[in-house]
Amino acid sequence: MKFFVDTADVAAIKELNDLGMVDGVTTNPSLILKAGRDIIEVTKEICDMVSGPVSAEVVATEAKAMIAEGMKLAKIAPNIAIKVPLTWDGLTACKAFASEGHMVNVTLCFSPAQAILAAKAGASFISPFIGRLDDIHLEGVNLIEDIRIIYDNYDFKTQILAASIRSVNHIVDCAKIGADVITAPPAVIKAMAQHVLTDKGLEIFLKDWAKTGQKIL
Ligand code: G3P
Repeated sequence: MKFFVDTADVAAIKELNDLGMVDGVTTNPSLILKAGRDIIEVTKEICDMVSGPVSAEVVATEAKAMIAEGMKLAKIAPNIAIKVPLTWDGLTACKAFASEGHMVNVTLCFSPAQAILAAKAGASFISPFIGRLDDIHLEGVNLIEDIRIIYDNYDFKTQILAASIRSVNHIVDCAKIGADVITAPPAVIKAMAQHVLTDKGLEIFLKDWAKTGQKIL
C-alpha cells in the first residue's frame, strides 16, 4: 500500500518524507488555501522534495479550460498528476491528458459507477472520498470495496487512491480491502503509531529500569 500525504504543508511533508513514509502527495484548492501559498510555487517545492506523484487540481469547470489549466500545472514537474473532478467535463479532460501521457487523478468520486467511467477515461488514480460519505451516514469504505471488486473483474489499471481519510481505522480498512494508495493528513498518518498499551508498557519498563540503578550510556 502506498502512502500519499494529503496536504500542501511543506514542513509536514518533509518530516514524513525523511522517514520514507511518503510515496506521493495530494493537494486540492482547500489545502492550497490552508497553506496560504501560491499554487505554482508550493507545488514546485513539493515536487522537488518528493519523487512520487504530486496531485495538483484544476479549478475550471469546462473541459477546454480544464485542459489549459492542467497543461500549465503539468509543466511544474514531470511527477505532477493532474487532478480533475469527476464530472463529464473532468472525464473529457482526463482522456485528453491521459492521451498525452500525463498522470491524472480523478477526484470527488462517490460511486462505483463514477469509478468505472474514470477508468475508461484513462485515469491513473481514482479518488473515492470515504469521510464525506461517512458524513452523510453512508459506509465510505464500502465504496472502496466495490471499486476494488469492479477494477479486479476487468483488470482496470487505474489505482484506487482512498481519500477523505479521517482516522487510523479508515487506513486499516483500506489496507484490508486492498486499496492501492491512501492519502491522509499528516496527523492521521502519525496517529498510526499510537497505542495506549504501548504508552503504558513503556511507562512500566522505564519505572522498573530506574529501580535497577543502571545506565546504558
Ligand atoms: O483528498 C481529499 C481530501 O482532502 C478531502 O478530505 O476530510 O476534506 O473530506 P476531507
